[in-house]
Amino acid sequence: MVCESFALKLGINIDHIATIRQVRNTPYPDLVAAVRIIEAHGADTITLHLREDRRHIQDADVETLRPLIQTAMNLEMAATAEMQAIALRLRPQACCLVPERREELTTEGGLDVLTHEAALRDYCQVLSEAGIEVSLFIEPEPAHLEAARRIGAPVVELHTGRYAHALTPAEHAKELQRIRQAAAYGHQLGLIVNAGHGLDYSNVTEIAAIAVLNELNIGHAIVARALFDGIGPAVAEMRRLMDAARKA
Ligand code: PXP
Repeated sequence: MVCESFALKLGINIDHIATIRQVRNTPYPDLVAAVRIIEAHGADTITLHLREDRRHIQDADVETLRPLIQTAMNLEMAATAEMQAIALRLRPQACCLVPERREELTTEGGLDVLTHEAALRDYCQVLSEAGIEVSLFIEPEPAHLEAARRIGAPVVELHTGRYAHALTPAEHAKELQRIRQAAAYGHQLGLIVNAGHGLDYSNVTEIAAIAVLNELNIGHAIVARALFDGIGPAVAEMRRLMDAARKA
């Protein structure tokens, strides 16, 4: 059987560039300058998470970057009325809906698409009608993919956190298999399947090799690598690893 393969996009999450600015309330590092370099080094999408507590990305960042991003803005947000109003006003190319808890360090799990199916259907419909491509950040589980399909979101992002943080080789293998199967099933359901969370230079290859995946969203590891190599080379190296995985 010939396996279908798509060009794999790289979405760069810039939240933690803003984190460095926010912890000292300085005007630097400049997100606009960062985005220019990131886009010049192989990013296909710029992702930013406007959290309820505004711990990193600020409203003004979304506003400023919206017309300046040359690739595409993916606004990550909780499915709240406040965020919907912002998205409808600024019309990013894409929105990724994520669960949010104030006390969490980062997005810790996928959206509960089973409990909130009806509300999410209405929520997504409003965004879709505004021309925004909606993505649901979900656990790599068949039932969650089926719910995403019923909700009508064209895109899902599979949560790779359990894979990335697996403690044993057995757990790693099990989580990788779960993502492979979910990617294949999502594709079969007609969904565009992305993945992200916890991906880094040492674990990206196996995920990038999954031929049906459309985009990987990666942030923390790239911003951390940038301290040593600069943000441009850090992005370029991730791009190189992803391309090599697809060619292998
Ligand atoms: N995708 C989603 C939906 C996320 O919430 C995050 C974290 O903000 C990422 C991708 C990127 O994760 P990381 O920073 O671990 O690469």
